[in-house]
Amino acid sequence: MSKNFSIYIVLWLLIQLLIEINCQTATLIDDKLYIVDGRNFNKKFIYLDVSIPFNTQNILWHELTTIVPEHVAAASVKGGANNKTLFLYGGTAYNGAVMALVYAFNTQNNSWSIPKLPEGIIMRRDNLKGIVDDKGLMYLFGGRLDGVRYNDMFILDTINLDVKIGSSINAPSPRSLYGAALLSNHFIIYLGGLGNDGVKASLKKVNLYDTINNSWSTQITSGTIPSDRYALSAVLGLDGQRIIIFGGIGLQDSLYVLDIINYEWQLPKTTGKSPSSRRWHQANVIGKYMVISFGYDPNIENDILLLDISNNEEFVWTNEFELMFITTDPSPPNGTSTAGTLSISSMIGISIGSLVGGILLLFGGFFLYKWNKNKQLLLRA
Ligand SMILES: *[C@@H]1O[C@H](CO)[C@@H](O)[C@H](O)[C@H]1NC(C)=O
Ligand SMILES: *[C@@H]1O[C@H](CO)[C@@H](O)[C@H](O)[C@H]1NC(C)=O
Ligand SMILES: *[C@@H]1O[C@H](CO)[C@@H](O)[C@H](O)[C@H]1NC(C)=O
Ligand SMILES: *[C@@H]1O[C@H](CO)[C@@H](O)[C@H](O)[C@H]1NC(C)=O
Repeated sequence: MSKNFSIYIVLWLLIQLLIEINCQTATLIDDKLYIVDGRNFNKKFIYLDVSIPFNTQNILWHELTTIVPEHVAAASVKGGANNKTLFLYGGTAYNGAVMALVYAFNTQNNSWSIPKLPEGIIMRRDNLKGIVDDKGLMYLFGGRLDGVRYNDMFILDTINLDVKIGSSINAPSPRSLYGAALLSNHFIIYLGGLGNDGVKASLKKVNLYDTINNSWSTQITSGTIPSDRYALSAVLGLDGQRIIIFGGIGLQDSLYVLDIINYEWQLPKTTGKSPSSRRWHQANVIGKYMVISFGYDPNIENDILLLDISNNEEFVWTNEFELMFITTDPSPPNGTSTAGTLSISSMIGISIGSLVGGILLLFGGFFLYKWNKNKQLLLRA
């Protein structure tokens, strides 16, 4: 088979209901949301093309058939010199398999490699969240190893392939399964989690890590404080002024908003059909949506949820993923942003070009797949 056709290693499959995806990581690279199954018995590795609209009831998943290292509960981010590489860190080896601490998946040629990193500085952890900054530094706080939780800050430079240890002074107590998000001021916010005593962390306070100064601080919160929880997700709102959390274990309500100007919690107003809560899922901001993927139980949490977060006055649960057109409106949104006037540079640019490209790719892929299938049939005949 010709090497030029790296597209061959992508199987184009229409999967309505996926089985056995759980504890996954979800990483947005260009127009693709890559899902690596975190309980990787089946070595599932799929992606969703977000350059085309979709309905969550009928999702076209693309399955990558490259071998994914076996692992449970790893962390992943987008990084590398080209900013197009998926870095998969830690996780527990499944079934005693030997695995590297870090793997890199090059999305340009769909291949995994083991980056050469200095050894013996950072250690393996699982059930933690990776946060990457705009310099390609992957921040890995806390997590667990062999049932013990930690509060170290490991920093993996995905561009220079270096590692270092950050500060633990004033860090949160050891924990796993917290929610975390990068703020626009280079701080990372950490919320909730599970401690060594089995106690769920309170959301009456949140922890902030300053990625510039390598220092920790704490913020006391007010308002409608969520119940203590872990295995939740957290994203930064489109205006950069609020954190939206969803799901987890230990819930009263599943969806909350934390205003990060005054650190006040609110129950947001939503319309649309509220989904039941979930845990061990992932959340990414794509266009105007908080995209929630999978979860712990592959039987019931085996799909994508979409929350339109473009209007802070009213979030909308929806099944329809629509494309966003970026306007050149120079005035930044000031809290009551609406779709269509957003001018957020970090938002993925989804253009008519990529729409057409996506459709062409889709057809191209389909025909290549058909062609390959026919060829296989011919070969077998
Ligand atoms: C994929 O690209 C990377 C970077 O250009 C290269 O190092 C690697 O060998 C390539 N892998 C394959 C399988 O072609
Ligand atoms: C990688 O891309 C993101 C946007 O997706 C950007 O914010 C970030 O600065 C980029 N990182 C590097 C190192 O260029
Ligand atoms: C962090 O750096 C900023 C800017 O240099 C400085 O104003 C601030 O005091 C520093 N904070 C800490 C906790 O060191
Ligand atoms: C946003 O800006 C507009 C126009 O300057 C103003 O009328 C509106 O009150 C502002 N909204 C908020 C939430 O600050």
